[in-house]
Amino acid sequence: MKALTIFGGTGDLTFRKLLPALYNGSVLGAESAEYRVIIIGRREYTSEQYRELARDWVRKFARLPYEDAAFDRFAARVDYFRMDFSDSANYPALDEYYRAQNISEHIFYFAVAPRFFGIIAEGLSHVQGAPQGKVIIEKPFGENLAAAGALNKRLEAIFTSERIYRIDHYLGKEMVRNIETIRFSNPLFTNLWDSRFIECVQISAMEDVGVETRGGYYDGAGALKDMVQNHLFQILSIVAMERPYEFSGADMHAEQLRVLRELRPAGAEPIRDTLLLGQYDDYRTEAQVGSYSQTETYAALRLFIDNDRWRGAPFYIRTGKKLGRREMEVAVIFRRPRPDVAHNVLIIKIQPTEGVYLQFNIQKPGDTDEITQAKMDFCQSCVLENRINTPEAYERLLGACIRGERFWFSQWDQIETGWNYIENLRRLYREDHLPVVSYKSGTPGPLEADALLGRFGHRWFS
Ligand code: BG6
Repeated sequence: MKALTIFGGTGDLTFRKLLPALYNGSVLGAESAEYRVIIIGRREYTSEQYRELARDWVRKFARLPYEDAAFDRFAARVDYFRMDFSDSANYPALDEYYRAQNISEHIFYFAVAPRFFGIIAEGLSHVQGAPQGKVIIEKPFGENLAAAGALNKRLEAIFTSERIYRIDHYLGKEMVRNIETIRFSNPLFTNLWDSRFIECVQISAMEDVGVETRGGYYDGAGALKDMVQNHLFQILSIVAMERPYEFSGADMHAEQLRVLRELRPAGAEPIRDTLLLGQYDDYRTEAQVGSYSQTETYAALRLFIDNDRWRGAPFYIRTGKKLGRREMEVAVIFRRPRPDVAHNVLIIKIQPTEGVYLQFNIQKPGDTDEITQAKMDFCQSCVLENRINTPEAYERLLGACIRGERFWFSQWDQIETGWNYIENLRRLYREDHLPVVSYKSGTPGPLEADALLGRFGHRWFS
């Protein structure tokens, strides 16, 4: 029998994302429906009690409608195994449990803080059949880059690199996957995709929520580590990469990695022209956040990729919490043929609306020479059928792990390169005594981020 074991089964991620994804998979008969789901946690629950808890979360967060009968069918595959996973003495009992259940094929999901990854992996190394299983881990992959590197070695020594799946849930998003198709299947864009025609690219991930219940984790991370070095660097590298020989597998990773390695080195430009950090005004009163915290909840970056394709076209990135709206998009701003007409703009909308927006110049209707902009707005997610058929990121990624499709996951060298780059920027920012500026919750972020673009003749498109 096959089992998906989730360590950290009573945490936010399991309740909000994993259980709803597994429920959807169960309703749709996805590959994950063939797995028993074993939840490991320290709290005193019986399986029945846990299933009742899960019912509420699924009801609230599953994309497919909740139905009693469908939930009961799903829940019949879910068991709770109580265990302190930080104590190696407890793993023989888990081993016995697996044997009693006749489980021979494993996927382990480490939905816990990275300080537990090593302990769990060591524990599992003594469980029969476990080291031959797959492991899914979530960022952060360690407390800092050095620790993450050491941890990575430890995990690879037990499970081998081929069986470690590092989730970046942005790679499971419909329109992130679509960037390749939009770029490479439309001559209209393929042939114009370089700095001769593109003036700048803007990648924005605006969130309306604050840190909510995750202040403890977030205060040690900040926006750069939480969003930029993983999710937004994945997007940046897909937008900027050369055409991979094949879109799946190693080729694509190699092209993405090349982009990250070609980022203009930190320090080559004055840091104040590269990075701007902000913090929302009531952040320090959030639970588990330090009263004098200097952690950034907002970051804006101006980056260059030093290769032939992109020389001279900046990539602007911004992300932040409590920005008054939830919106994630990639805006490609084309160069103008003359100063008196507007830019052509292509926007790949990632969420909440999924779609593509295209703006171009046309003559105003009537007897006039005036030029105006046509705005074509294609909303993919507005088609009801699409909404029902589009799996959520976690559903997709669980399926990809089961099928062994590694290209849906982050590779260690990508993580290391991005992380290193971000750490260098952060260090330079500190060394230059640049401030983490305050911005008012519910506004689009610090005005200084507008000024950063303004100094170079640009503005955020939306
Ligand atoms: C997570 C971050 O990886 O992504 C969160 O840790 C952030 O801080 C979240 O809110 C955003 O994900 P999504 O799918 O809501 O855009």
